[in-house]
Amino acid sequence: MFEKNIYIKRRKKLKELMKGNGVLLFVGNNDVPMNYPANQYHFRQDSTFLYFFGVDEPGFAALIDTDSGEEILFGNDFEIDDIIWMGDQPTVKERAEEVGMEKSLPLKELDSYVKKAIDEGRKVHYLPPYRADVLIRISELTGIPYSNVKKEASVELIKAVVKLREKKGAEEIEEIEKAVNITGEMHITAMKTARPGLYERDIAGLIEGIALSKGAGISFPVIFTVHGETLHNHYHGNLLEEGRLIINDSGAETTLHYAGDITRTFPVGKKFDSRQRDIYSLVLKAQKKAISMLAPGVFYRDVHLAAAKVFAEGLKDLGLMKGDPDEAVRAGAHALFFPHGLGHMMGLDVHDMENLGEDYVGYRDGLKRSEQFGTAYLRLAKELEPGFVFTVEPGLYFIPKLIDLWKGEGKFKDFINYDKVETYKDFGGVRIEDDYLVTENGARLLGNPIPKEIDEVEEIRGKAY
Ligand code: GLY
Ligand code: MN
Ligand code: MN
Repeated sequence: MFEKNIYIKRRKKLKELMKGNGVLLFVGNNDVPMNYPANQYHFRQDSTFLYFFGVDEPGFAALIDTDSGEEILFGNDFEIDDIIWMGDQPTVKERAEEVGMEKSLPLKELDSYVKKAIDEGRKVHYLPPYRADVLIRISELTGIPYSNVKKEASVELIKAVVKLREKKGAEEIEEIEKAVNITGEMHITAMKTARPGLYERDIAGLIEGIALSKGAGISFPVIFTVHGETLHNHYHGNLLEEGRLIINDSGAETTLHYAGDITRTFPVGKKFDSRQRDIYSLVLKAQKKAISMLAPGVFYRDVHLAAAKVFAEGLKDLGLMKGDPDEAVRAGAHALFFPHGLGHMMGLDVHDMENLGEDYVGYRDGLKRSEQFGTAYLRLAKELEPGFVFTVEPGLYFIPKLIDLWKGEGKFKDFINYDKVETYKDFGGVRIEDDYLVTENGARLLGNPIPKEIDEVEEIRGKAY
């Protein structure tokens, strides 16, 4: 946990943004059963709850009164049965004091507080729930039918929380760098260890172990695959065979739950072959172009489109695309190979605050999401500001079903050389991802650099087996 003043300041700022605007209700996460009630998934607290209240245990809630300024932490003290199985724990009062809150009450008291606010005609603001049990609890507390709970979530509260969480404080940046450095160990270990004859899961399990032993585990399920053309491929049953490329997209969480998110692509063998070299170099070139543009005031959508243009030009040089690269990107033809966004905010969540609504996080009033295939998946488009932390993760993929579909439709046939693309259907994909912080006059890489130049990667692979 950070020192208590951090939490006091965060809540103070939230109260300023929401002043005179009723009551703010936060319901923390609960344990979730895996296959029977007492066998639970690893507990993960809600990130906004961590941000304002720091409590990393199930079964808590909190209220902030924006008129009186009162803040209350709700939870139940452990009883002897709990202590026998789970050990003694701080009391709710002690937990409240740790984050500078003066008042704490048993969980059952929450109902009457919320009811009183509603009876007085005051607005009860809450964030959109993403877990069923929390949704049910909000429904019970507020009387809003289940089916309306998500749509009646408070846009004002969402916007206020995004405004605070999107600008990372020094203490958060320090945590994120820890997460990226654990993530770096995962990646370097994978590069040093993978070899033909192992299965993907041999390495996927090994690196997940690093995340667990150095922090709070992984920040999202490990992607470690020779089928990198499937963007979020969580299957780890393939044999590693010479000639294939491996995409390793994985990250760790620190004990305070800040995330890292890195992707490296390397050959199963010791060296990239010439086709792999061409595509890999192009992805690295697009990433470097994107990184060179990072600065306050720059629209991330423009950075995304600049990377797309590097792709359209490079793919043209390789004979995979044709025509004018600017026109190809305007039309969206590059998305056959680059069907995702350049990056997303990162912090307490690997896709930071995605549960609050991507358009509130990566867009803003007056900046609408593109409806074009590819760019539509861009999670961050708005102007960069100092304190933003996000990923830069261009990739090129050869997705056989998508190639067949577009070719069959004759889609973008003036921009895509389908005959040549056919010969890449066994290629897989390449993605390279790093995590950046926007500073007052530019941006900086978070964490220690992780090898990504071709000669650096081949040097490590050359010693791997
Ligand atoms: N780790 C998934 C992503 O890069 O967005
Ligand atoms: Mn990633
Ligand atoms: Mn990412």
